Amino acid sequence: MTIDAKTTLCAVIGNPIGHSLSPTIHNAAFQATNLNFCYTAFEVSDVEQAIQGMRGLGIRGFSITIPHKVTAMQFADELDPVAESIGSINTLINNDGVLKGYNTDGIGALRALESAGIALEGAEATILGSGGAARAIACTLAAKSDLAKLNILGVVEDEVKNLHKNVAKQTSAKVVGELINSETLEAAMANTGILINCTPIGMHPKVDESVVPPHLMSAPLVVFDIVYNPMETKLLKEAKGNRCRTINGAEMFINQAIVQFELFTGQNAPEAVMRKVVLSSLKG
Ligand SMILES: NC(=O)c1ccc[n+]([C@@H]2O[C@H](COP(=O)([O-])OP(=O)(O)OC[C@H]3O[C@@H](n4cnc5c(N)ncnc54)[C@H](OP(=O)(O)O)[C@@H]3O)[C@@H](O)[C@H]2O)c1
Repeated sequence: MTIDAKTTLCAVIGNPIGHSLSPTIHNAAFQATNLNFCYTAFEVSDVEQAIQGMRGLGIRGFSITIPHKVTAMQFADELDPVAESIGSINTLINNDGVLKGYNTDGIGALRALESAGIALEGAEATILGSGGAARAIACTLAAKSDLAKLNILGVVEDEVKNLHKNVAKQTSAKVVGELINSETLEAAMANTGILINCTPIGMHPKVDESVVPPHLMSAPLVVFDIVYNPMETKLLKEAKGNRCRTINGAEMFINQAIVQFELFTGQNAPEAVMRKVVLSSLKG
């Protein structure tokens, strides 16, 4: 890759940022598509100044990560409606000085389900958790799928209430929001076709934990764990053992990066290249 006076710059902003896989993924994708783009990482403490810098320097796109996903919204000129309903952005695109915010996490999860051939129309889904990722996925499913029912089970009462209210007004699907306990979990699992874990349970260092006991999971249930560290969580291992279809968090990660690439460049992403980079990085 040659960097010259015509190179278009993109970057991830966050704090800390040294662990980010995004530069590796996006630079591999730019190289594979022969685009004169380049992607770097900035450790940012003042997100407003960073976004002013984007305007001043004509930086084309930012990926936005922890802890700036919510704060950055107020510095965008326009918001994608789904990002607005989620209440956070992970992507900012500079269209000739007009900055538009998007959230590709939810659409990344939706594409991961669709590319695994999972039918959403008329299905019942259960989301575990009510934090940032749960919000992104619940709002995206409400806006862009035809689920019949969505259960949201979390541990933080205010988050669950707000998410339930927000999602229910965006969809004709029945939406249930409850605190998680053995009864609410069992009731939700009785008719759930698609289970989506959006909690950090199962993620390093809680690798020996799972929110759902194995006896509540059986085929033809689809179990999607958005945790990608490790890629095969206890939840996924137990679901597989009970012959359920499983989707891991790397699929969401790959797909949200693909959507970002499309937003940065206006072109189709080199999916195979991006998948290979993500999988080899996550496998370490
Ligand atoms: N694959 C991807 O591309 C992708 C993208 C984003 C996030 N993720 C992963 O998704 C996970 C969640 O991320 P996040 O940003 O949403 O985190 P977050 O904002 O901290 O939300 C996690 C939520 O889950 C709740 N929770 C914890 N234990 C629970 C349990 N047993 N049952 C139900 N809810 C529980 C947490 O409550 P407390 O606050 O009380 O702990 C919190 O409300 C992380 O592991 C992250 O790495 C993956």
